[in-house]
Amino acid sequence: MTTAPDQLDLSSLDFWSRSTAEREETFAPLRTEAPVSWHPAPEGVMGRPEGEGGFWAVVRHADIAYVSKNPKLFCSRQGVQFQDAPPDLLEASQSFLAMDSPRHTQLRKIVGSAFTPKRIAKLEDTIAARAATIVDEMLEHGDGDFVQLVCRRLPMAMIYDMMGLPVEQQSDLAEAADLLVSANDAEVRAAHGVDDPLELMGQAMFALTGPGLQLAEERRAHPQDDLMTALVQAEVDGQRLTDAEIGAFFVLLSVAGNDTTRNTIAHTAVALTEFRDERRRLAADPDALMGTAVEEMVRWASPVLTFRRTATEDTELGGQRIAAGDKVVMFYESGNRDTEVFADPLRFDVGRDPNPHQGFGGGGPHFCMGNQLARTQLREVWRRLLAVVPDFEVGEPARLTSNFVNAVKSLPIQLHR
Ligand code: HEM
Repeated sequence: MTTAPDQLDLSSLDFWSRSTAEREETFAPLRTEAPVSWHPAPEGVMGRPEGEGGFWAVVRHADIAYVSKNPKLFCSRQGVQFQDAPPDLLEASQSFLAMDSPRHTQLRKIVGSAFTPKRIAKLEDTIAARAATIVDEMLEHGDGDFVQLVCRRLPMAMIYDMMGLPVEQQSDLAEAADLLVSANDAEVRAAHGVDDPLELMGQAMFALTGPGLQLAEERRAHPQDDLMTALVQAEVDGQRLTDAEIGAFFVLLSVAGNDTTRNTIAHTAVALTEFRDERRRLAADPDALMGTAVEEMVRWASPVLTFRRTATEDTELGGQRIAAGDKVVMFYESGNRDTEVFADPLRFDVGRDPNPHQGFGGGGPHFCMGNQLARTQLREVWRRLLAVVPDFEVGEPARLTSNFVNAVKSLPIQLHR
């Protein structure tokens, strides 16, 4: 097996505490010299497992697309997280994300119809009105933490309204969803008075599934026009979903629906502070440029950093022999900076077209179900922000240490009005 050239260690948490620009210094040479390379098991919530085998790092756009689009060769049912976690915790949180067809197709279908372009188009006015209120409230508030004032609010309200979760519970549950993916970050653990990452994840799971199952109970008794009602009424192969399956659905949608869009908004504010000309260009003609700008926001932010697959048979990838059972990890941030696909990838270009980024995944059956919802939220929030506060500036983002999500914990914003 070929090991990677001597670069920063992709398996270490130190690597994942750095910025995208710093990590790119490792990914760029890997893409040209060792596009598929072997690494030891990642450091994570279970410590740094000794002798437990490692993983293949897939860093090129073309290889990420190949793995994503060949689920028979690279399956999801043996886990999709880069780092290992206890099986019961994974089972309670991943639902169809960690399944293959036919079960994956059946479960995705239950909620998938609520996320089609047509259904999301019907929510456009609601999303635009919400975005306007949130931005206007930030203006009233003045300078502060952009993550709390703006980024987290719209995704949280949209996904939980769609689920049918009462407004007064939304903020606590969005925080629990964040915590579930933040356990590797020592500062977050200290803030919650917890040493053990697994304990923090357990607390977050409990905080999410309790209210999720309570909502399920209410919808069984009083059906409404929302996603939780769809879940409790759904039948797969003539069987209703179990509470455990409904709980896992709820956790998956909570994490996927909140954190990704929130972080894309935050990373975009950083990009538009650095690339002032691009901000002016977008603000001057949002009707013409917002469509391409939103794709660039997702490429730039790459809010989901990694997903894993497992090889189902001996095969070859990027010139390497992959054995059945080997773990294969896709690094979307790297695919999104591949010079074979993107000219000048370190430039934030609101007019980039074409922009076949892999922010929503590399294609195939697991392609992000919420992509239209995310795109619409990004469009509306930035349309409003640039219209009413074209002259803002953000400071240094506080980055989460995570090998899964590219999260911004806080981001000071100054509004120049
Ligand atoms: C900018 C925002 C978002 C980004 C970057 C993003 C990214 C991703 C990625 C990379 C995947 C895995 C794709 C794959 O394995 O091929 C995924 C899957 C998924 N996303 Fe998103 N996502 C975003 C927003 C959302 C939203 C708002 C929802 C709303 C519920 C959502 C729901 C899901 C679900 C349910 C899956 C699992 C799909 C499956 O396994 O079939 N995502 N997303």
